[in-house]
Amino acid sequence: MRDITLEQMRQLLDVPIFHQIGQTADQLGVECYVVGGYVRDLFLERPSKDIDCLVVGSGIAVAEALGRRLGKGANVSVFRNFGTAQVKYHGIEVEFVGARRESYSHDSRKPVVEDGTLEDDLCRRDFTVNALAVCLNRERFGELVDRFDGLADMQDGIIATPLDPDITFSDDPLRMMRCIRFATQLRMCIEDETQQALERNAQRISIISQERIVDELNKIMLSPVPSLGFIEMTRCGLLPLVMPEVAALEGVEVRGGRAHKDNLYHSLEVLDNVAAVTADWSDEAAEGQTFPHKLWLRWAALLHDIGKPRSKRWEQGTGWTFHNHNYLGEKMIPGLSRRMKLPMDERMKYVQKLVGLHMRPIAIADAEVTDSAVRRLLFEAGEDIDDLMLLCEADITSRNQQRKQRFLDNFRMVREKLTDLQARDSYRTWTNPITGEEIMQTFGIEPCKIIGELKQMVKDAIWDSLIPNTHEAAREYMLQCAAQKGLSPVTPDNPTQ
Ligand code: CTP
Repeated sequence: MRDITLEQMRQLLDVPIFHQIGQTADQLGVECYVVGGYVRDLFLERPSKDIDCLVVGSGIAVAEALGRRLGKGANVSVFRNFGTAQVKYHGIEVEFVGARRESYSHDSRKPVVEDGTLEDDLCRRDFTVNALAVCLNRERFGELVDRFDGLADMQDGIIATPLDPDITFSDDPLRMMRCIRFATQLRMCIEDETQQALERNAQRISIISQERIVDELNKIMLSPVPSLGFIEMTRCGLLPLVMPEVAALEGVEVRGGRAHKDNLYHSLEVLDNVAAVTADWSDEAAEGQTFPHKLWLRWAALLHDIGKPRSKRWEQGTGWTFHNHNYLGEKMIPGLSRRMKLPMDERMKYVQKLVGLHMRPIAIADAEVTDSAVRRLLFEAGEDIDDLMLLCEADITSRNQQRKQRFLDNFRMVREKLTDLQARDSYRTWTNPITGEEIMQTFGIEPCKIIGELKQMVKDAIWDSLIPNTHEAAREYMLQCAAQKGLSPVTPDNPTQ
């Protein structure tokens, strides 16, 4: 965090739009402040797009007058129900709100709102670091108002509420998720009383919509060390309420002196590993992608082992096993997505696919790395093969350096073979040279099970390198397989089967 003197603050805000806002407020005779995240991020030297302005009076009136002052190019939207207005001007967006005093009822996030003072407004904000205001009126341009020691908390790296945290969280339980999100994003600690209030109020999260919860989870997920947020959620009891499938991964069972690893902390380590290697990926979809892989690969990392609690067995002589946990996990994804209102489109399909396939490269690397095993993997993972390999490498969290190195070496072999096969076969876009149509015409048959069986036999033969990947070889092989099943091609002497 940096120190900012009055003079420096004036320079930082020496942008035409801030002077225009200040002059408009002066004209209307009201105080106007830039508040919240924008001010916080000035001190933390983080980029901030949204500008929030607080008017001690009518925010709508200032926005409308500003719109007139800016003239052409300014777009003013008024939300009378909320008492807010937005001004868009050459790519800049400023939200205006009047200072208010709010009181909440127990079962709703919708407050009863009355006009209030600057102080009323700041004390109703979520955290001290978000309750800073800088005046824009000409006389006091750049003057900082810090009623709740937000600067000191920022300096000490503390997230604390301006009021009694039980009131802040009970007023708006989404703030519990925001608290953990800010602590994770800004690498700050949650102050003790605030932490205890999280524990006391965790159940209140039930009145928050899934969409808003997921919004916060995504921000935690995109932070440099996302595990911090999930550990906080575990500590205060929010995790079992928000993501019971992930919370169920916690714990270690010991039998006959043999323990399995704690799958929650393992999953979080995998998530952090993926976060580290995707740190410089864009938060937006890259060219050719329909969604940002940075975020959804991290979701796959978090969820890759959710099938483990249900597949856990103790096997005499072997110890703890989690057979088929990847397939179980894959099956759990649609239910979890539906409940959490995660996007049930190509994004969660991608997560589901990676969860289902995440054991495959390990299985291949553990045995002999054959062409056909790698080829099958390539076909099933398709475009997502590189992301899958990345997830699998992140999944090696063994503390045994020798074991870890053995896996990494084998993965390198899988990767080499992948590159080699991709160059030779272009399997990412592989299609079977024999179509169902061709089989039906060849044997004069209607659609039936045998067509799928013949296609599968051809596919297996090509992938196992029994025959070359050409139409000629595939047809020849298909005719042989059909003969074994008692089928013969349609000829002029034998027009039907
Ligand atoms: N705020 C609040 N309680 C909420 C949401 C917001 O008190 N549930 C206040 C905070 O003072 C916050 C400001 O409104 O700083 C603006 O909210 P928002 O734009 O959601 O958050 P930012 O702090 O700007 O941070 P970010 O953009 O990262 O979400």
